[in-house]
Parts: sequence; C-alpha cells; structure tokens
Amino acid sequence: MTALLEVRHATQRFAGLVAVNDVSLTLAAGEIVGLIGPNGAGKTTLVGIISGTLTASAGEVLFEGRRIDALPAFRRARLGVGRTFQIMRPFPGMSVLDNVAVGALFGPAHAQASLARAREQARACLDFVGMGRHVDQRADELGGPGRKRLELAKALAMQPKLLLCDEVMAGLNHAEIDEAIELLRKVRDQGIGLLVIEHVIKAIKSLSDRLLVLHHGEKIADGLPDAVLSNPLVIEAYLGKRRA
Ligand SMILES: Nc1ncnc2c1ncn2[C@@H]1O[C@H](COP(=O)(O)OP(=O)(O)O)[C@@H](O)[C@H]1O
Ligand SMILES: [Mg+2]
Repeated sequence: MTALLEVRHATQRFAGLVAVNDVSLTLAAGEIVGLIGPNGAGKTTLVGIISGTLTASAGEVLFEGRRIDALPAFRRARLGVGRTFQIMRPFPGMSVLDNVAVGALFGPAHAQASLARAREQARACLDFVGMGRHVDQRADELGGPGRKRLELAKALAMQPKLLLCDEVMAGLNHAEIDEAIELLRKVRDQGIGLLVIEHVIKAIKSLSDRLLVLHHGEKIADGLPDAVLSNPLVIEAYLGKRRA
C-alpha cells in the first residue's frame, strides 16, 4: 500500500545549522502521528519541508506516491497537503468567515470557486470546529482559543488529505485541549492523515497512533506511544528535562 506521506532522508541546513538531519517517516491516511521534541528540535522546519514553505537541502517528499518536493507550497496545498501555522496571522480587519473563505478559494476546487461557494464552505468548516457563532466577528478580535480554531478551519477549508498541525493546542487550558483532541479525532475520522506537534504529553499520547521524536534535528524514536515515551533516549532528551 502506498503511504499518504513519505519523507525520505530529509535534511535542512540554515547557514551553519542543520535544523533537520536525515529524517525519514511515513504516514497513512486516517493515521494520527504525534511529533514531539524540545524547542528548536526541528519540528516546524520539518512541517515546512513537507508543506513546501521550505525547500529541503536534501531528501525527498512523496505524497500519495508522487514526488512533491520540487513543487511550490500552493501546488502542494492543492494536491491535499494542509497545514496550520504556529504563529497565527489572521487577515486583519476581515471577518472570521472571510478568513476561512480565502482558504476555500485556494483549495483544490479553486477553478470552480466563486466567493459565494467559498463562503458556504467556510461556514461549514467553521461549524465543524465549533465557531459557527463567530462567523461575523473580526478575526483579529478573537482570543487565543478562537484563533486556534480559526487556523484549523482555514486549513480544513482547503480540503486537505494530510493535515500538519503545528502546536494547535498551545496556550489552551485542560478543557480546551480535550475539545481540541475531540476535534482532531473528528478530522481523522474523515480519512485525513494528521501530523500533530504538541508539547502536552498526556494530550499527544491519547491522540496519536504513533509518536515521532526529534532531537537536534534527528529522529531519535518512532513507534507506539507507550514504547516511545518509555524509551530511555527520549526520557533523556526530552521528558526528563521537562519533569525536572
Ligand atoms: N528560517 C530559518 N533560518 C535560520 N534558522 C532557522 C530558521 N528556521 C528555524 N531555524 C532554526 O532551526 C532550528 C529548528 O527550529 P524549529 O524547526 O523552529 O524547531 P521547533 O519547531 O522544533 O521548535 C532552531 O535552531 C531554529 O533557530
Ligand atoms: Mg516549532
């Protein structure tokens, strides 16, 4: 069976720094893979390599068995590679609805897209993430949790097959994290594959089918959550320091 996503030996160099070093991974449709590791480990860089905001220094990215690493980000998005951004920048002055409609206009249906249809789809995505009552609000007036949901709705409006979630749960309280987990499971239940970056171990453990750990740009573990979280290398590199 062809993996939805396959990364082969990806490396990203920035000047003197190797931010991602020879990382390989696979992800299947309908699978949730958690990506963890200390700050600066290369998680966001890896998301950039997959989504196309970065061009890897070396390695290959395959989506549904096809090389996409030479394609610009917007072409990858149209094929079904969706992402959220760790730093959220809603279009200022625009409504929540239109922020998401922009996503719909640039999605795979862009050729037939009209603004009316895009808004209809945006409304459905906002309902899906529980933001149906906020459609007319200005996006830049939303608080943290609202912005996180908006970011997710924007990504979903592009009808992704793969969704890369960069810290969509950061800054949320316990109840909000539980809601976010629920929501990401609902996304998975549509057959979408998810790569989820998250620091709250309890959350990522309960959500993920599999966990990957990055440390200094290198993949140091990849496997079932329980096995990965009890791996001495992972405890040494990441978990131990967090408990200390
Ligand atoms: N555009 C860039 N230019 C130079 N260095 C970068 C750039 N983006 C990230 N880095 C560096 O690469 C390393 C990995 O960063 P990042 O992928 O953001 O880590 P994480 O998301 O795991 O916290 C860090 O040392 C960071 O400072
Ligand atoms: Mg990051």
